[in-house]
Amino acid sequence: MSVTTQFPLVEPDVGRNRSLMTDQKITAEAIRAMKGRGERIAALTAYDFPMTRLLDEVGIPLILVGDSLGMVVLGYPDTPQVTLAEMEHHVRAAARAKPRALLAADLPYRSYQTVEDALASAMRLVAAGADAVKAEGGREILPQVRAILDNGIPFFGHLGMLPQHVLEEGGYRVKGKNEPEHQALLADADALVEAGAFAVVLELVTPRVAGEVTRRLPIPTIGIGAGPDCDGQILVTPDLLGLLPWYSLKHVKPRLNAAEQMRTVVQQWKEAVEKSHAS
Ligand code: KIV
Repeated sequence: MSVTTQFPLVEPDVGRNRSLMTDQKITAEAIRAMKGRGERIAALTAYDFPMTRLLDEVGIPLILVGDSLGMVVLGYPDTPQVTLAEMEHHVRAAARAKPRALLAADLPYRSYQTVEDALASAMRLVAAGADAVKAEGGREILPQVRAILDNGIPFFGHLGMLPQHVLEEGGYRVKGKNEPEHQALLADADALVEAGAFAVVLELVTPRVAGEVTRRLPIPTIGIGAGPDCDGQILVTPDLLGLLPWYSLKHVKPRLNAAEQMRTVVQQWKEAVEKSHAS
């Protein structure tokens, strides 16, 4: 008797967009070059195989296995709970989709406190399938950023509100409202460019300062809750899809009510099963 050992979904080309099959892998350099051509960048998060594959089939060029994983998949209250082992597990799942998109992954809290830790952690995420890593911070993590880049791993910056520091900061607060924060953002952004980051997330930055940083930097800014003037936008995909109805965010209006649709479908199926008769 022959046994099928491969789950049908992992057949390489089933349902895949033809143009994506032939197109080349998107590199960090290609993301960076989009700014030069004035192309807006639509980035999203994914944490597993099907979501990565779906986003890739739509042509999203930059997919992030974010440590938002902690809240939107693992049920933690915040991102500092996420471990490197958890990130690796989800990066592996996302990477099995073999996306054409650049697959970036977050270095989780406390995994890049020293240069040695940062490099070892980044290498583990790359071994799991990430094409690039992201870490939160500017000048204070520059030695770590340089070590990562010196070892050939593309680096994605993250400035503004830093969710890994939400506990120290006592909440999610918009950055850039006062002059010291404004100046700090400019200095951190310049430092990341100087080190060689290919792009930088601006999270919860005032639109005025996000626009200024965007005009100043030669690399793309990818905003989340930072107004319309960034070079690109990123969202946590379950927030875009309305998959988590238990909280709402100012910066994202769900475009689908996925939670409600799931409840309806599951309810209908449950009732159908309960009403069915054994033949
Ligand atoms: O963890 C994450 O999903 C992120 C995005 C919000 C940029 O860092």
